[in-house]
Amino acid sequence: MPDRLILGQCLFYDADPRQAGPDGLRHTSRGAVLVRAGQIIETGEADALRAAHPQAEITDHGDALIVPGFVDAHAHYPQTAIIASWGKRLIDWLNTYTFPEEMRFDDDAYAAEIASLYFDLILANGTTTVASYATIHPASVDAFFAEAKARNLRALAGKTCMDRNAPKGLRDTAQSAYDDSKDLVAKWHGIGRLSYIITPRFSPTSTPDQLSALGALWAEHPDCLMQTHLSEQVDEIAWVRDLFPDARDYLDTYEAHGLLGANGVFGHAIHLEPREVDRLAEVGAALVHCPTSNTFIGSGLFDMKLADRMRVGLATDTGGGSSFSMLRTMAAAYEIAQLRGHALHPAELLWRATAGSAEALRLDDRIGSLKPGMEADLCVLDLASTPAIAQRAARADDIWEALFPTIMMGDDRAIAQVYVAGDPRG
Ligand code: GUN
Ligand code: ZN
Repeated sequence: MPDRLILGQCLFYDADPRQAGPDGLRHTSRGAVLVRAGQIIETGEADALRAAHPQAEITDHGDALIVPGFVDAHAHYPQTAIIASWGKRLIDWLNTYTFPEEMRFDDDAYAAEIASLYFDLILANGTTTVASYATIHPASVDAFFAEAKARNLRALAGKTCMDRNAPKGLRDTAQSAYDDSKDLVAKWHGIGRLSYIITPRFSPTSTPDQLSALGALWAEHPDCLMQTHLSEQVDEIAWVRDLFPDARDYLDTYEAHGLLGANGVFGHAIHLEPREVDRLAEVGAALVHCPTSNTFIGSGLFDMKLADRMRVGLATDTGGGSSFSMLRTMAAAYEIAQLRGHALHPAELLWRATAGSAEALRLDDRIGSLKPGMEADLCVLDLASTPAIAQRAARADDIWEALFPTIMMGDDRAIAQVYVAGDPRG
């Protein structure tokens, strides 16, 4: 395979925008990314790289903007077909829409069909890595990973474990959750670009025995991530208090069972107590902000200032989230921060949807930025994908003003091209 030289506007992440501000991201209007065997070899100015690599096969994206492929740090691929279901809040939404749909995944063919559809949808939206929950069925994990592997995608997932407060047919046991998850770790973790995540759904659907069993499994596989939900809705927190009367708070229901650590990834985390924030920061756990979900099912306004103290990724939370698009997700994150009194810069929004999510998933040494040595997962954005966006971007004085209309109003039409490990897709 010859080297591939991909040309366009580029944003290179020289420094973390949390410390360096927007200047941490370097814009070049005629940039280039040199790709070989699935990896980024060199980045820089187009003219210089063309001269240095005359044999490279050139793809010129003109004025389109090359950014890292988006990284969705929390999603539920089995909820693809029930996205945008009307009128419920979390617990009712789970019982009315989610659990009946997840039951359908005892049919392996259905799981394979939805996994394929799901990856089509996220790739069309520029997402090249996702961390997904599967269902309780081990074969739903197989379907997800088989599809990701066939597409050579970097992807993460785990069997969702539940042994109470879920319908018959959607419950495992403490022992079977441990055994099945352990088998799936052996089968998929570290195979190619795939990682297994230990996945208790949330405290209300696991007995203390099941949480302990999964805590024990995590202790045996500390290099695995552990993902779960935390403090998403006020009613849910009250329910957790009833179910775990001895716990200091919601986080304690995980910590007491070995499910709090530096490789823990906690979705939502909206209504945290000060003790929970201190403890999460102390152990170095990550949070995931799911803004379209938090508005759609009425959960609350995540505090992005928490990102000063710990890693925070960004995610769709499909299908509690109302979109497959990380552009739409960035827009919702912007709106929520505005409602809390501060404006997130487009540099921070983009960084969080790429490098920030990669960092939350402990993958920032492989994906999430355009740097030599990184895997060549790229997204090429058309900054004038609709007439409304084009007329606003035409007035822009700098790259941030040019990008922001696409963040706020863009959708899959803005995705001009995706590269997965250097291969063009779509
Ligand atoms: N809490 C427990 N399960 C879920 C889920 O599937 N989606 C969301 N948004 N919250 C949850
Ligand atoms: Zn979720």
